[in-house]
Amino acid sequence: MLFPQPSVRLTPSSLLYGGRSHDKSHLLRSGQYLYNELPVRLAHRIEGFRNLPFIVGCNSTILKVHEMYIRAFHTLYNHEKITDIESERKYTETLESLLDQHKDIIQLLAQGFSESRKHIKDERLIQAFLDRTLKSRLGIRVLAQHHLAMHNEQPNHVGIIDVCFSPRSLLENSVEFLSTLCRDRYGYAPKVQYQGHMAVKFPYMPQPVEYIVGEVMKNAMRATVENNLRNYSNIPDVVVTLANNNTDFIIKVSDRGGGVPHDIEDKIWNYNYTTADSLTDDQVQTGGIFGEVMSPAGRAGESASRMHGYGFGLPTARAYAEFLGGGITLETMQGIGTDVYIRLSHIDSTSNVKKPGFRI
Ligand SMILES: Nc1ncnc2c1ncn2[C@@H]1O[C@H](COP(=O)(O)OP(=O)(O)O)[C@@H](O)[C@H]1O
Ligand SMILES: [Mg+2]
Repeated sequence: MLFPQPSVRLTPSSLLYGGRSHDKSHLLRSGQYLYNELPVRLAHRIEGFRNLPFIVGCNSTILKVHEMYIRAFHTLYNHEKITDIESERKYTETLESLLDQHKDIIQLLAQGFSESRKHIKDERLIQAFLDRTLKSRLGIRVLAQHHLAMHNEQPNHVGIIDVCFSPRSLLENSVEFLSTLCRDRYGYAPKVQYQGHMAVKFPYMPQPVEYIVGEVMKNAMRATVENNLRNYSNIPDVVVTLANNNTDFIIKVSDRGGGVPHDIEDKIWNYNYTTADSLTDDQVQTGGIFGEVMSPAGRAGESASRMHGYGFGLPTARAYAEFLGGGITLETMQGIGTDVYIRLSHIDSTSNVKKPGFRI
């Protein structure tokens, strides 16, 4: 049995300093690395699906995802070898189409586990499977998108990495998008204030940060509005604070949305745990549209374009933050509101020996 072999993970700075060449040899090198690496990573995931409890693995939605991984494995494993620019071009086209076919997998997993998890007593089993699957998927997508982006260089970018990444503009764009979503759902959206090191810029890959910030911000906005249903004229602001240092950067999102009640505090990090159904639409006295809105095209691609959903927001955001060498913690004051701290390691955080950075 050839697989699974150990995976070869890259430092993010090797993506950044991987080099560019006029003869496109950097594209060949990157393609050859993916050609060897992606089947190994997919094989590990397929093994994960095989080891799921039988009753979960038989769920039709989970089976569908499992089969998608198997198909992707065969497509990439049997692909023509990358020897020149022409074979590299074909490989890149294949990658692009696979990325597209797999874009809704988180939603499928969320749906599959919400149907089948009642059969499983051990929550840790599901948590471990989903943490591993989602982190690995993020790694694969980052590498594949980096390769695609190197074909199509944007100013100030090296592949997927924005060398002048501005957390402020990411936050503002995300808030603008989510405010529209929030207004469509509830008729109102809280204002957002920014404070701290908002002017900083450094190299980073924006996509996973956009996902994490989006999920945390949706929760803050939802809690704020739902906790102030009779007080629309005076909704408290959400406050975002940014701290930057040599090792990492920290985004704190503070809301006055009433906090996370004591009795659910230890469940909110579980995949599929949600209080989405606890508020009926009759309670939402919106000046806007009642009920579930038509989804605007999901801007972040995989981020659900709704204010809440399958209870995947927090655990997925935490898995992504851990993947980026950081984490998420939540402090809540029942009756007042919640502070969420998102910590993400810098790409070049070699200055700190205790925290050696992360690998993709
Ligand atoms: N800022 C917050 N204030 C109050 N409750 C929160 C907050 N963030 C999360 N929660 C609670 O945690 C639950 C799980 O959140 P999440 O994983 O994002 O799933 P979802 O948003 O789909 O319900 C939410 O349903 C909500 O009850
Ligand atoms: Mg959420």
